[in-house]
Amino acid sequence: MCGIVGVVGSKNATDILMQGLEKLEYRGYDSAGIFVNGQKTAAKLVKSVGRIADLRAKLGIDVSGTSGIGHTRWATHGKPTEDNAHPHTSSSGRFVLVHNGVIENFVELKNEFLMNDSFKGQTDTEIAVHLIAKFAEEENLTTLEAFKKALKLIQGSYAFALMDREDADLIYVAKNKSPLLIGLGDGYNMVCSDAMAMIRETSEFMEIHDKELVVLTKDKVEVMDYEGQIISRDSYTAELDLSDIGKGTYPFYMLKEIDEQPAVMRKLIATYTNEDGTMKVDQDIIKGIQEADRIYIIAAGTSYHAGFGAKMMLEALTDTPVELGLASEWGYDMPLLSKKPFFIFLSQSGETADSRQVLVKVNELGLPSLTVTNVPGSTLSREATYTMLIGAGPEIAVASTKAYTGQIATLAFLAKAVGEAEGQAKAKDFDLVKELSLVAQSIESTLSEKDEIAAIVSELLPTTRSAFYIGRKQDYYVAMEASLKLKEISYIQCEGFAAGELKHGTISLIEKGTPVLALISNNEEVAAHTRGNVMETVARGASAITIVEEGVAREDDTIVINQVHPYLSAISMVIPTQLIAYYASMQRGLDVDKPRNLAKAVTVE
Ligand code: F6R
Repeated sequence: MCGIVGVVGSKNATDILMQGLEKLEYRGYDSAGIFVNGQKTAAKLVKSVGRIADLRAKLGIDVSGTSGIGHTRWATHGKPTEDNAHPHTSSSGRFVLVHNGVIENFVELKNEFLMNDSFKGQTDTEIAVHLIAKFAEEENLTTLEAFKKALKLIQGSYAFALMDREDADLIYVAKNKSPLLIGLGDGYNMVCSDAMAMIRETSEFMEIHDKELVVLTKDKVEVMDYEGQIISRDSYTAELDLSDIGKGTYPFYMLKEIDEQPAVMRKLIATYTNEDGTMKVDQDIIKGIQEADRIYIIAAGTSYHAGFGAKMMLEALTDTPVELGLASEWGYDMPLLSKKPFFIFLSQSGETADSRQVLVKVNELGLPSLTVTNVPGSTLSREATYTMLIGAGPEIAVASTKAYTGQIATLAFLAKAVGEAEGQAKAKDFDLVKELSLVAQSIESTLSEKDEIAAIVSELLPTTRSAFYIGRKQDYYVAMEASLKLKEISYIQCEGFAAGELKHGTISLIEKGTPVLALISNNEEVAAHTRGNVMETVARGASAITIVEEGVAREDDTIVINQVHPYLSAISMVIPTQLIAYYASMQRGLDVDKPRNLAKAVTVE
């Protein structure tokens, strides 16, 4: 949430900041701004409501310099207005600050230190920059000392980049809980919310840990704690590919990412199997799960649904009960745990603040944990005991698709590896390489029906305001994900429901023409019951759309998909629903990749 970029020592500071912000736009896109300074150029601050393109349209040629900071916002405190957009300045204009996170004690800080100050907007960030200025200007502290003093008082989450208008050669950076990374260049250095936004400039990075402060000049990076003790930190080279983050000829990233899923499945096979077909999964992770009496999967949103999609398979193959926890709830309401828990954190971004707060508690309890993520080096990956990477390539569209399917597939390798180590016959008999290859083929076959799915959407969901996805067992879990996807990008009110539960109250919402999308995978007993539930809704006026696996399909079904192993059906069954959401959004003329009110990495609790 919110993207930060900064550069010091480059002739093209404006260009680097704008390029960086464009790459970071998925993190928030309701307003944006940059501050640019230089020894030989006048400092300029430009802000705009709306997208990065709106900011770009406001830039004149005089906005140039050798250093600067930029920000793209996802509003938390105060509406998306120009006054609330970052960078924020102190009263005199000398100090300029960008921030990602939430300052929890900003009201207390304002009341204690800044009662006589007037503020342009409502943000917590403006309080922080006024506080720094107060310490520097009234107590005659250097910028570094004033920043340190403010950091010791500020509580909450933050990634800060601070500039002093009087010194164009320095950027001060600090972080706590929110992501931030240093990029090292030849004759310039950078700071950014994620590596992807810097890879055009550099592939050399340096981590910053919580409660660390960094002073950046064009040829020096000094990391220290809040007492000023210098910390030595090695840099690392990131294996990122610039071509991964383009959308090529696709109209939207989401469609590209949906299309990439067969390749993600095949890549996972290569990553997690040895040449002889045995599983290539870290023995310590396998042992950790073997020793556990319960697996707890903690996640949010789509990743939470992926956890459900893998639950049946994990329980069957590891012979260990699996419990799912919503990260935002478990941070403050953790239930009584089993005697030997093993925690799995599912997170595409690896940065979700809700998940992280649970991980912090898990670490305090000294319990083992695994993060399954798409982002190497992300916070959850660094802080969990173990990591398994999805390796799906950057997911840019806000609506997650390939990370969901990649998470379930990654957990399949884990489940099989543990099951085999336990000597489970079920695990040995489950030919995962073959079955996942069939899943990749099933996805390809569904993808070849895009035009038909687009036509179904334009016929059955043209102006609908509400809809239901229903299913039983695995299909119910897919229904939850399918409805989230439809809601978030098409703004159709949609509920994912256990098919049999509808008649216990919610069926009263069914009216003439309400679309009911039923997911029916190949389980004869369950299929018959779900079909019965569909008929109940049709009898009350619903328009039924059936998405059915081959083995139980009938001629009048709307979409028929190739049959796969029941452990993996949450992967193949979700594909038509991703396409339905995509076309519903596109046909309504919406910005598929950047739905309103949302952001990709949710780094606030
Ligand atoms: C929806 C979506 C979100 C995320 C959720 C958790 O398409 O992407 O629901 O799944 O915000 O994010 P991660 O997986 O990064 O922890």
